[in-house]
Amino acid sequence: MTSYQKLNTSVPPEAGDEAADEKPLCHQKLSAWWLGGGLLMVAALLSGVTVWVLGQIWWSQHKVFPLPKCASIPENLRFDCYPERGTVVTRELCEKRGCCFVETDRPIGRARGVPWCFYPPDFPSYSLGSMNETQMGMVGLLTRQTKTYYPSDIEKLQLSVEFETDTRVHVKIIDATSPRYEVPLDVPRVAKRAENPVYTVEFSKDPFGLIVKRRTSGVVLINTTVAPLFFADQFLQISTLLPSTFLYGLGEHRSNFLHSLEWTTLTFWARDVPPMESCNLYGVHPFYLVMENGGDAHGVFLLNSNAMEVALQPAPALTWRTIGGILDFYIFLGPDPNLVVQQYQQVIGFPAMPPFWGLGFHLCRWGYGTSNETWEIIKAMRNYQIPQDVQWNDIDYMDGYRDFTVDPQKFGTLPQMVEDLHKHGQHYVMILDPGISSTHPPGSYWPYDEGLKRGIFINTTQGKLLIGKVWPGLTAFPDFSNPNTHQWWLENLNRFHALVPFDGVWIDMNEPSNFMDGSQEGCSQGELDSPPYVPAVMGGFLPAKTICTSARQSTSVHYNLHSLYGLMEAKATASALIKIRGKRPFIISRSTFPSQGKYSGHWLGDNRSEWKDMIWSIPGLLSFSLFGVPLIGADICGFSGSTSEELCIRWMQLGAFYPFTRNHNTQIEKAQDPIAFSPAARTAMKEVLETRYALLPFLYSLFHRAHLQGDTVARPLFFEFPKDVATYSIDKQFLWGRGLLVTPVLDPGMDSVIGYFPRGIWYDYYTGSSVNSSGESLKMAAPLDHINVHLREGTILPTQKPASSTSVSRRNPLRLIAALSQNANAWGDLFWDDGESLDTFEKGDYSYLVFNVTQNTFISTVLHSNVEASYIMVEALTVYGVRDEPKRVTVNGKEAPFSYLKNQVLSVNNLQLNLSHGFSIRWM
Ligand code: NOJ
Repeated sequence: MTSYQKLNTSVPPEAGDEAADEKPLCHQKLSAWWLGGGLLMVAALLSGVTVWVLGQIWWSQHKVFPLPKCASIPENLRFDCYPERGTVVTRELCEKRGCCFVETDRPIGRARGVPWCFYPPDFPSYSLGSMNETQMGMVGLLTRQTKTYYPSDIEKLQLSVEFETDTRVHVKIIDATSPRYEVPLDVPRVAKRAENPVYTVEFSKDPFGLIVKRRTSGVVLINTTVAPLFFADQFLQISTLLPSTFLYGLGEHRSNFLHSLEWTTLTFWARDVPPMESCNLYGVHPFYLVMENGGDAHGVFLLNSNAMEVALQPAPALTWRTIGGILDFYIFLGPDPNLVVQQYQQVIGFPAMPPFWGLGFHLCRWGYGTSNETWEIIKAMRNYQIPQDVQWNDIDYMDGYRDFTVDPQKFGTLPQMVEDLHKHGQHYVMILDPGISSTHPPGSYWPYDEGLKRGIFINTTQGKLLIGKVWPGLTAFPDFSNPNTHQWWLENLNRFHALVPFDGVWIDMNEPSNFMDGSQEGCSQGELDSPPYVPAVMGGFLPAKTICTSARQSTSVHYNLHSLYGLMEAKATASALIKIRGKRPFIISRSTFPSQGKYSGHWLGDNRSEWKDMIWSIPGLLSFSLFGVPLIGADICGFSGSTSEELCIRWMQLGAFYPFTRNHNTQIEKAQDPIAFSPAARTAMKEVLETRYALLPFLYSLFHRAHLQGDTVARPLFFEFPKDVATYSIDKQFLWGRGLLVTPVLDPGMDSVIGYFPRGIWYDYYTGSSVNSSGESLKMAAPLDHINVHLREGTILPTQKPASSTSVSRRNPLRLIAALSQNANAWGDLFWDDGESLDTFEKGDYSYLVFNVTQNTFISTVLHSNVEASYIMVEALTVYGVRDEPKRVTVNGKEAPFSYLKNQVLSVNNLQLNLSHGFSIRWM
């Protein structure tokens, strides 16, 4: 039985502390990064130090007293007037911009610290004319009299504010005279203006500012009066105060879940790079959530796909800086965090329902030499009866790394292997990269020939084919913004499916990644490849390790479309898979953008086999939960580097609770699949996968709720306990849904773990023994073969007898586990269908059951039913927290045998109840 040791503190441990010192210089031109040149890295670091030292010397010699209007601005409220990297900002440069120059202590290290050059209160901005009422809200004209220091200021802007729902306001600022690029997101139109908005919107006219308040509390959620608005052709900037420092979201980044506002800059520009702190990574999600003081939450989404950065400062305040498009904000008022995320997904779209098998265990590696080698692993997994649903192949299967080909020698038996997987009720997923090999004589490679013929590749600014380099060598890049490309992609997938009947697709390298900067011929020197302002992107320039931003696509220039590439490829892939298989698509994409969840899941990219990388995976999961991409996981046991057995056991334990669970490894490194380890490790891995498989009916039901209304699956603790401030920084634990708490071991050599338990009764998932927490951190035993999982009081979990694949476990009998609340109540539900047909919920082809415990009675109520539920038997009910030993138990009114344990666990076994019929079980 678990014993809990109380600690002196109720403050939960901070996540990621161990990794806090690992901050690379993302924005510098670090070709060294790619060349692997440690020397150049050191040089870059030293030059940073030199710049700092020179700055200090210069400062000591040139101290000038600042103007009073400048000095009076508190440091935290200094908004950076000179965000450009790589320039030592001098008084002269700063004052040329009309800004204040005040020297302050620079932090040692890489944080930018208090800006020396910042806007004075009277810095020119836009002024707002009168606002006119519209059907949905208000519209007004913003004008600017004075030019800024960026080229092509747009002098007249249109501001529209639409009260779309009672909890959502839409603020859009566009060029009043000519159209600009807008992201083609299908936001459902709202026909009627909100009647009882929970917010107020006020304006300051000259200079222009927008203030959004929460009506009930009066809390100011947005206040943009703190800094000037910029709207030049390639530099748009708006700042706002934040009502608290509890800020989340803004991905994809490697950071703690709770962001630091100590002068942090987060950059957004899809990029192929192993995850590092402070760098722009594979995906772009300009959405944040703030916990206000008092437990309310709100969220803000900037619908913009251009290279962007968000500067955070301790005021607390935030500055959006983007270099194109428009300012298109959606503000969500919650008021609780679950609702904020739901409201966000009402705009971007709810995630797809994954196939049931997609929630099983996935095994992958780069470097399976042959199909037979892959097949051997599958067979060994079966031999050891370790649950596995899906086998993957990386680029090894391809002939010369070309998409839609199979290496005839090494992977000759691939079709048979896939057939064998299917025979065993398992599934197959293979990788596809977008780059299409372009070096073949005409007639020898259909994807390229046909792509050329149909004109579906991306062109250079001169209208020539843009050629870059990826695994197969020189490649052309399909333009997924063109509907003809979707047809060509479908035909390719279809032809390949006839050879290898795959079940899902892994779309990788779709930032799009390019081993060259720009193209074989470089890029233009124009304002699209070298804009006047470059956000702090890794490499220091936009085409670094991708294609030229001046490249032409069918709907716009790559400058606007770059970060949408993965989304558009996923959309094409999902629609193709539906046409080919007629079933729910399973897609995992590396690059992502808002609304990605509608088409694919995501994994967190090329992590390392290190403890700190395992730690980072939890904030990663939680962030993607906010972004509406619930099908999320990290490479279990780490991608690069070699894992140790201990790390891999702990990671398999944590990974068994990733919504998407895949063990993936790079080439050459030691094998890290479960069978590569000692019998004891194998057993521990097998057991935790069995725990996951047992919980799949619960997990699947959570995915249904995500699909239906945007509930999170992997959930931060504060979503359930928004009034408990101690939960706000927790990112070493997480919940599944509202009631299952996962507390993994994240450090080597441990046999115990400390976890925070919000106020209430928590039951050990495995044994039912309970702890009544006052909202405190507790120490628990955590031997190497054990991961702590707890049930929150009041939860009912549907579980199922595990098997080595979901095709078998899905038919197994259920055990329902009820964890009683203080008042002896509990609640749960189950969504059940055939696990793979399209739109089962939408078509009504599903069963939905609600479970309740009140007054010592468990009741299962079938609210919606189809034939699928009738195949399933309920075999057992286990009730945790039954305080008094029952004398009798009845099932549907008839006496039934039961057992009762001292730790207050009641079990009723051998029930043989059909799930499709309601039933009641009573104890007295
Ligand atoms: C990069 C991906 O992130 C990684 O997972 C994959 O193994 C390699 N590409 C090779 O395809």
